[in-house]
Amino acid sequence: MKYIITVNKYFLLNKLGKFMITKDIYFNRIKREIKLKLKINVEQYKDSYINRRISVRMRANNCKTYKDYYEYLIKNPNEYKKLENTLTVNVTEFWRDRTAYNEIEKILKNFVMDRKFKSLRIWSAGCSSGEEPYGIAIIINELKYRYNRKFMPVSIIGTDLDSDILNKAKKGIYHNKQLKNIDNSLIYKYFTKLDEHQYEIKKDIKKYVKFKQHDLIREPPLKGMNMILCRNVIIYFDKQIQEELFLKFYDGLINGGYLILGKTEILHGKARELFKAVNYRERIYKAKNINDKFYLN
Ligand SMILES: C[S@@+](CC[C@H](N)C(=O)[O-])C[C@H]1O[C@@H](n2cnc3c(N)ncnc32)[C@H](O)[C@@H]1O
Repeated sequence: MKYIITVNKYFLLNKLGKFMITKDIYFNRIKREIKLKLKINVEQYKDSYINRRISVRMRANNCKTYKDYYEYLIKNPNEYKKLENTLTVNVTEFWRDRTAYNEIEKILKNFVMDRKFKSLRIWSAGCSSGEEPYGIAIIINELKYRYNRKFMPVSIIGTDLDSDILNKAKKGIYHNKQLKNIDNSLIYKYFTKLDEHQYEIKKDIKKYVKFKQHDLIREPPLKGMNMILCRNVIIYFDKQIQEELFLKFYDGLINGGYLILGKTEILHGKARELFKAVNYRERIYKAKNINDKFYLN
């Protein structure tokens, strides 16, 4: 009896092992292609995320297994671009999560009203097609006029890994569905209607925002920021990478600067000692004033 159980166990494990190996080989081959040809560092993303994105392309091409898709990819060079878009592009909207933006507006109001701040620097990290940085620029422009700080220099930098999406961001053209959180009066003030569905952000707002290609995982942070927004980006990263990124963000902020994450993203690891959660529900964290930044090395 003991022998039979052992044999069955071995058989099952062997079967399972074999299944895992078959799955992993082609999944890993696709990942290797993404890394080598698309220069995206897939190792640092969660496998579940990569898996979901690859599955989208598998379905689109009627591939049943990773092996089918891998072979399809190799034979169809056009598929690389489509896979890249699926991995990196995400449609977003202006002032996504209205309650978070109400809090962000309060923080920006304090910066604008406090004459100690001569200028403002904001970083929208993983900005996709520009809705986040332009949305922030609209709020700041309103505040500058309301609080008589018309001449306060404000620089907003939107960065993303994906150069195609940044080109779209620079154009600043959006579907009316993406403007659903903005009051009509502000749409009228800050957008030019191009046709029934398309609106272009006006020059007065574009002038605040510069776009730059930047890989959050591989590159050092931008520095001297009053606020960093990194929303709905790190959710796709490994826990370890997230922790490293939080330290980079601390390094990128001025003392007392703010880090804003997405609704489902939580600050964890060593960085918890460096930030105070000022609004936990909205994932708003403030950089503590710590002189010795030795843990960043
Ligand atoms: C869901 S969008 C978030 C857009 C915006 N922050 C928002 O909340 O509406 C995620 C963006 O992160 C970008 N991204 C993914 N990995 C990145 C990386 N390693 N460095 C910079 N950007 C990255 C993607 O290209 C995509 O545009």
